[in-house]
Amino acid sequence: MSNFTAHAPGKIILFGEHAVVYGKPAIAVPVNQIRATVRVIPQPEGVTGPVRILAPGINLSCNLEKLNRDHPLAAVVGNVISSLGVSHLPACTIEITSTIPVAAGLGSGAAVSVAIIRALGKFLGQPIANEQVSALTYQIEKFHHGTPSGIDNTVITYAKPVYFVKQPPSPPNGRGAGGEGNENTIETFNIAKPFTIIIGDTGISSPTKAAVSDVRVARQADPARYERLFAAIGSITKTARQSIESGRPQRLGALMNENHALLQEMGVSSPQLDQLVSAACQAGALGAKLSGGGRGGNMIALVREENAKLVCLAIRKAGAVNTITTEVRTHHPG
Ligand code: MEV
Repeated sequence: MSNFTAHAPGKIILFGEHAVVYGKPAIAVPVNQIRATVRVIPQPEGVTGPVRILAPGINLSCNLEKLNRDHPLAAVVGNVISSLGVSHLPACTIEITSTIPVAAGLGSGAAVSVAIIRALGKFLGQPIANEQVSALTYQIEKFHHGTPSGIDNTVITYAKPVYFVKQPPSPPNGRGAGGEGNENTIETFNIAKPFTIIIGDTGISSPTKAAVSDVRVARQADPARYERLFAAIGSITKTARQSIESGRPQRLGALMNENHALLQEMGVSSPQLDQLVSAACQAGALGAKLSGGGRGGNMIALVREENAKLVCLAIRKAGAVNTITTEVRTHHPG
């Protein structure tokens, strides 16, 4: 009997993290060098048994029923079963592997959810459309991350560069962002000229939830200051989109530096992120910034292709535990 496999890529936010939670636009792109893979291995015909979950990366090997219902993996499986109207999951093993670093701003949780949802849909003979994959993933993100904007589930589901604007908070009994009836603005846009980004990992684990929640508290204390920061980031993101669409990606460098300075003001950078950002710029990057929730996790730098090796070396020398070089283009080959 065949297995049912699905993959989902990692992601980086190029512009607009945090401000996107408050209705400003953000740009995110998939990172195909890292991905989550889920394989559903059915029991042979007629053999009954439990649903097993294997996730060697987090040392997990158990029967699904042993997991707490609000465990992220159990919650995804539960959501798929109820949304497909299936009474129970036939005996199988769900094997989860991922090369996306956890709590690093690269979308590891959303990618695992997307891959589980797709693999289970195939296994149950009900392939799930992207819109629903994204909506189901958003529900899990909301459950575990508090107030996510919906950008991570979107870029990872569609595996394309996206320009994303979250819908305003829904009224009581209304539908949430990313849910069914989703009113978010999700635009794929043309990358007129591909460009090269280096991703540098501080190696410091930093859950997005904590950074997002700290920003919320800081904004409550000083709304005017945070609205000004969000508005400035929003206008950088709009200019960045124009630069990308008009084939002038080199202009993104200065915009990344400005965006990073605003994130520093917002209190979500860290000495390690700042160190990697400075090292990249000193080694000739056109610009650099933190990417994702901040505080740790990853930074990104825009480089000319011929300069990529030098910038990678400089970032590593400044303390990065890993670097990934990725080309941003509209269509990824393969
Ligand atoms: C996380 O990738 C980006 C944040 O803006 C949070 C979110 O949009 O949900 C920090």
